[in-house]
Amino acid sequence: MGASILTARNLSKVVPSAEGELTILHELSLELNKGDSLAIVGSSGSGKSTLLGLLAGLDLPSSGEVTLAGRGLSSLDEDQRARIRAEHVGFVFQSFQLLDSLNALENVMLPMELDGRRDARERATELLQRVGLGQRLSHSPRQLSGGEQQRVAIARAFAAEPDVLFADEPTGNLDSHTGERISDLLFDLNKESGTTLVLVTHDERLAHRCRRLIRLEAGLLVAPLEP
Ligand SMILES: Nc1ncnc2c1ncn2[C@@H]1O[C@H](COP(=O)(O)OP(=O)(O)OP(=O)(O)O)[C@@H](O)[C@H]1O
Ligand SMILES: [Mg+2]
Repeated sequence: MGASILTARNLSKVVPSAEGELTILHELSLELNKGDSLAIVGSSGSGKSTLLGLLAGLDLPSSGEVTLAGRGLSSLDEDQRARIRAEHVGFVFQSFQLLDSLNALENVMLPMELDGRRDARERATELLQRVGLGQRLSHSPRQLSGGEQQRVAIARAFAAEPDVLFADEPTGNLDSHTGERISDLLFDLNKESGTTLVLVTHDERLAHRCRRLIRLEAGLLVAPLEP
């Protein structure tokens, strides 16, 4: 039995709306061990991105608790959560969130520089080569296609060698060949470094490469397929 790296207990997210309170996630629990891979599937609006943000400590639940790398996130303030994220988490946003003032190489270097790594440039170059962007190092995000920006975001998320990599539709903007290459890279990382993968995806092939899969329907966890 592996050690648990991420647990969610009775996680709920309720937001106010004009029609009254809206429950986006309802009493969701799960536990992941180091090196696990989990696919989160479900239709648009079912709460997948919301769940990912809560698990990564980017957002706080209305009730329930997330424990990441042994730390309960609810009791921490924003700075403390940011530190836990910097140390343990890589995140690929659905909207990429690259910095426009930095080129591709600098975007990937940034988390490593913040971490004080002296090989940041070398490693960022290597990561960008691995996602097929060795010829785009000095391009700004605006000069890159959607799929290229997605790959820069993936290289950046890998950069700090996270314990848990969260990715929101990491192959969503990629053709099937490039998507396959990116999936291979995700699972190489999973095997080589024991990185736990938590992936939101509509890509069935990617979902079925994950050891575990959960489906959300209107904020409810249905049909967890356990190992
Ligand atoms: N801050 C918020 N305030 C109000 N409603 C929200 C908020 N955040 C999310 N929602 C709603 O919660 C639901 C779930 O959103 P979420 O982004 O998690 O869906 P998703 O499963 O990721 O969808 P998609 O596949 O389209 O990305 C949606 O109906 C959305 O409108
Ligand atoms: Mg989403």
